Amino acid sequence: MYNKIELPFEYNALEPYIDEETVKTHYGKHLQTYETNLNKALEGYEEYTKGKTLDQLIKNLADLPEEIRTAVVNNGGGVSNHNLYFSILSPNAKKSPEGKFLEEINKTFGSLENLKEELTNAAISQFGSGYAFLVKDKDSKLSIVKRVNQNSPVMDDLIPILTIDVWEHAYYLKYKNLRADYVKNIWNVIDWGKVQGLYEDCHNI
Ligand SMILES: [Fe+2]
Repeated sequence: MYNKIELPFEYNALEPYIDEETVKTHYGKHLQTYETNLNKALEGYEEYTKGKTLDQLIKNLADLPEEIRTAVVNNGGGVSNHNLYFSILSPNAKKSPEGKFLEEINKTFGSLENLKEELTNAAISQFGSGYAFLVKDKDSKLSIVKRVNQNSPVMDDLIPILTIDVWEHAYYLKYKNLRADYVKNIWNVIDWGKVQGLYEDCHNI
């Protein structure tokens, strides 16, 4: 069994930037469906999942029987991507990283503001459903990537540490077609303390 994370805040905690109804539906319905469908697809394949984290499954797709790979990409990616998304949002978001992580950001992007601008542009320009991510590679180098649908950067040996979900279900109830407004506002609730924790985590997938 692979599970969605416990939501680390109340449904209405991200108001006014992300509204209560959206969090309820997004976490309680959309993410729940990915979790349910993932576990259903993996029934009878316990020998392949035993002792493996979800990200290990996603990263080593070729080790899985072909008939379940698509379900693992779509529903497993759906659980993994959403778990990251909900884990880095907070009503008491720390507004800036610090220390070595901030140094690495400055080195790679010039400044935190530049990084935020690049990530904002990546999220706004992702065509159709998908995500923009801040990722680190095996040498802890940072970069920004976009992915379509529920594809995860984990599939490409990258470790995602921040993500912006730009599926319409993430913003449409409040923002309708104005994805850019949602992406600009989400910075108010992205917790750099949590992102920094993931950057500093040496644990490999
Ligand atoms: Fe989503």
